Amino acid sequence: MEAKAQFTIWTSGCQMNDHDSEIMRALLEEDGYQWTSNPDNAEIIILNTCSVRKGAEQKALGFLGNLKHQKANKPDLVIAVGGCMSQNPEVREFLVKKATFVNIIFGPRSYHQLPKFLQEALEHKRRVIVDETSIESPGLLPAHHTSPVKASVNIIYGCNNFCSYCIVPYTRGREKSRPLEEIYKEVYQLAADGYQEILLLGQNVNSYGKDLPGEINFAKLLARLDEIPDLSRIRYMTSHPRDASDELIETIAASRKVCEHFHLPLQSGSNRILELMNRGYTREKFLGLTKKIRERIPEASITTDVIVGFPGETEEDFHDTLDMMEQVRFDAAYTFLYSPRQGTPAAKMEGQVSREVKKERLARLMDLQNQITLEKNLPLENQVVEVLVEGRSKRAPECWSGRTRTNKIVVFEGIDDQDLTGKMADILVNCARTWNLTGSLKKVHKKEEYVPLTRN
Ligand code: SAH
Ligand code: SF4
Ligand code: F3S
Repeated sequence: MEAKAQFTIWTSGCQMNDHDSEIMRALLEEDGYQWTSNPDNAEIIILNTCSVRKGAEQKALGFLGNLKHQKANKPDLVIAVGGCMSQNPEVREFLVKKATFVNIIFGPRSYHQLPKFLQEALEHKRRVIVDETSIESPGLLPAHHTSPVKASVNIIYGCNNFCSYCIVPYTRGREKSRPLEEIYKEVYQLAADGYQEILLLGQNVNSYGKDLPGEINFAKLLARLDEIPDLSRIRYMTSHPRDASDELIETIAASRKVCEHFHLPLQSGSNRILELMNRGYTREKFLGLTKKIRERIPEASITTDVIVGFPGETEEDFHDTLDMMEQVRFDAAYTFLYSPRQGTPAAKMEGQVSREVKKERLARLMDLQNQITLEKNLPLENQVVEVLVEGRSKRAPECWSGRTRTNKIVVFEGIDDQDLTGKMADILVNCARTWNLTGSLKKVHKKEEYVPLTRN
């Protein structure tokens, strides 16, 4: 095939965007375009953007501003803006009307059609503006997996939840599950190709199957994937606390490969705020859920997302959040300042909280959580943990880095020059910190002898 132009992809946002970029890269490479990691060499630059908070949009718009200057000296440069930001009506209008140097405007529901859009832009010198209204499941797609050890797989697109602060249902559209056998086939092939860990992606994986015929749900999908030989670990992102079922907890308890890690975004510990957020659960229900998980799977880790400064959040509401953090004692929490998103109900609510108050609350929340995270990690000192090695540590390149099944990062020194990428290793933890564990290598499992955990 004749070599086509060089392209690069700039990505921000969640794992879903990361994976969409892996797919776009593979699709363009299949079409003959040449990948480059250096934007200066690229003749085509694709931005895969995020809209979840204003900061994410500012980052993308800043990058776009630089590209505008570059294009003044390089008029043939093709710029495509995809991802969630280009589907946020406010920014979309700016991109369509004002940012006329952008050649292609598409979004997370049509990313798999990028080769077609590019052809239109390059051959017919036409500006392509995609109007994404519905979502069709695009079927099996190729992907350039960034890691040689773990691979992501979409299981459900879109979101039907409409949490009152969130833009995602507007940018990614309604829920659409992929057929179970199609996911099975994809995961089976990835495992056969040597990927040991699979990350199943969806905004709410617990909704999986609701729109499919038959008795299919997320727990049944996990049970089916657990049977795949050659696979060591299965993870998923994100499960909504409202519909994390007993069947799901039982399935995970009985599975060998599904990791004992629950990411359950709490968002707020105040029932009043949870109601305003349209989250569909109370703090009591959330506490009941985490208790059930810990009774059934005592070694499980539980992590969360919290938003501070939602409209109307009083000091008392915020105290309820701090109180929940102390009661649940999460292994880790991602904490965010509430960011008004135009078009969502919360942006119009009364009692918007000032930036100063939000920042001050965030600092208190982070202080508390950092302390809890450290306290949760300390008992791991002098224990042996099982780690899937992902590669060299980014911060300490002389060391290796991997994760426990509970998703804790472990950094350790190797032996000789042995490449440990993709190896399952036993590590004795010497030092537990808030952000990672450090330890020493005790044993590297031979692949043919390695048997994932069984629990009854
Ligand atoms: N589908 C996932 C969340 C995806 S967005 C879920 O429901 O759990 C990831 C996180 O970003 C959310 O959990 C929330 O904590 C945060 N977030 C979403 N919208 C936000 C906003 N407008 N301002 C601040 N944080 C937000
Ligand atoms: Fe947003 Fe809520 Fe959907 Fe998560 S579940 S993507 S927070 S609307
Ligand atoms: Fe951002 Fe869209 Fe993901 S808004 S967080 S890239 S779903």
